[in-house]
Amino acid sequence: MKGVVLAGGTGSRLFPLTKITNKHLLPIYDRPMIYYPIQILVDAGIQEILIVTGGRNSGDFLRLLANGRQFGLKHINYTYQEGEGGIADALALAEHFADGQKVCVVLGDNIIEGNIKDAADTFRKQADGAHILLKEVQDAERFGVAEVSGDRIVGIEEKPSKPKSNYAVTGIYMYDASVFDKIKTLVPSGRGELEITDVNNAYIREGTMSFSYLDGWWTDAGTFDSLLRATNLVAQSAPKPTDEEKAVTV
Ligand code: G1P
Repeated sequence: MKGVVLAGGTGSRLFPLTKITNKHLLPIYDRPMIYYPIQILVDAGIQEILIVTGGRNSGDFLRLLANGRQFGLKHINYTYQEGEGGIADALALAEHFADGQKVCVVLGDNIIEGNIKDAADTFRKQADGAHILLKEVQDAERFGVAEVSGDRIVGIEEKPSKPKSNYAVTGIYMYDASVFDKIKTLVPSGRGELEITDVNNAYIREGTMSFSYLDGWWTDAGTFDSLLRATNLVAQSAPKPTDEEKAVTV
């Protein structure tokens, strides 16, 4: 399975922070935001990674990440999203890179405490279809929300005013190669974007969507409040120096 990090968009909800740089280059505690989704993929055993970027500062990704040596990678692939077509439009750019293989897609502003290794291993064994990760949240109306019935997802609503559950669809998606044909059938939503929720609902209608629940905390970082929360969660989870290490640095 290959990996795709979606790091385009204008980051308008973080203006003016995003006036001079891309949202995914902003700091989350001690690292640029984009480090976290790349690490999610690497921790899941994925070595072939495509970064989809866009906007005015796309060249900075290459300067920052180069060939991914800091993640133990030999090479990173890059591509460029023109305009603001949405998440599914950005993913469409990965068709050539995927070359018929399954892809694990991580939104560039999604940060997790744990890892997705088990879910990735499960999906590697799944013949076809898709797999998403759900997380129980208090503010479900901010996200795609899954309606779950037993061991099935019945449907997903994008930012519903009255959520049918507290289960947010996290920005970590695993797809078979049919995802690119599904994207070609989409029409723009009310906000003028090709929605990843419409892609997921296509798999649900087909009966090939599986899911699991994400362990540990999860947050996005695309608003001022969630950017702060992400920084605090990462800082609290960072390994604390031992008494011996503290003694050395004093
Ligand atoms: C996007 C998706 C949404 C998902 C969220 C996770 O929302 O559209 O379904 O729950 O990412 O971070 P956006 O960040 O575009 O508001």
